[in-house]
Amino acid sequence: MQKRKQIYEGKAKILYETDSPDHLIQYFKDDATAFNAAKKGTIVDKGVMNNKISSRIFQFLEKEGIPTHFEKQLSDREMLVKRVSIVPLEVIVRNVAAGSLCKLLGIAEGRRLACSTLEFCFKEDKLNDPMINEYHIRALELASDADIETIKRYTFKINELMKGFFKALNIDLVDFKLEFGRFKGQIILADEISPDTCRLWEVGTGAKLDKDRFRRDLGNIEEAYQEVLARVSR
Ligand code: TMP
Repeated sequence: MQKRKQIYEGKAKILYETDSPDHLIQYFKDDATAFNAAKKGTIVDKGVMNNKISSRIFQFLEKEGIPTHFEKQLSDREMLVKRVSIVPLEVIVRNVAAGSLCKLLGIAEGRRLACSTLEFCFKEDKLNDPMINEYHIRALELASDADIETIKRYTFKINELMKGFFKALNIDLVDFKLEFGRFKGQIILADEISPDTCRLWEVGTGAKLDKDRFRRDLGNIEEAYQEVLARVSR
């Protein structure tokens, strides 16, 4: 597939058009940001690792009946994806309290939640991706009622599937962020699923195998991503 014009550059990825109107190439960078790019850095070979980890997870989810934008991994840093129009929402699921939920509710990191939670954030960097609810989504016409229902249904199914997937690798899926897009009228899973977008704690040791190592300056960042890649490649 021929790589053509660059159409978008985000914090971690670049999107290119291809010779197919229905497909884009998603290129994974090594750039790492946190706190809406207030903190910037590089994680050596993150792009390569996240492309491989994400490809593996998308393949698993597709096999389990979740429609995704994934077509195939083209190279170390390139993934061929369906060209979607992104729903401007970040959908966050939590199984264990961590990160912004602890601040929001004044609860301890590591507390297992009595049920999984779902948060919607408005994908708008200049506002710092604020948390919104379904009324806001409808009021701003970000998604229809039917779309919201589909997104919630897929999201909780993905949580169950991914919890099992990671548990088999001795990893606890603490929380994660999803993005969805529209392709030929259907809602499908888009973006990436990687240690940038999930919190992954090793069962037993509690070791953090995700971007919190960068956010919190914990060291051994590349090693943590490498460890996740090694386990998902088993
Ligand atoms: P949070 O605790 O900072 O709200 O993050 C919850 C989860 O969402 C965590 O796994 C990291 C992921 N996430 C992103 O992928 N992108 C973002 O911009 C943010 C804020 C969180």
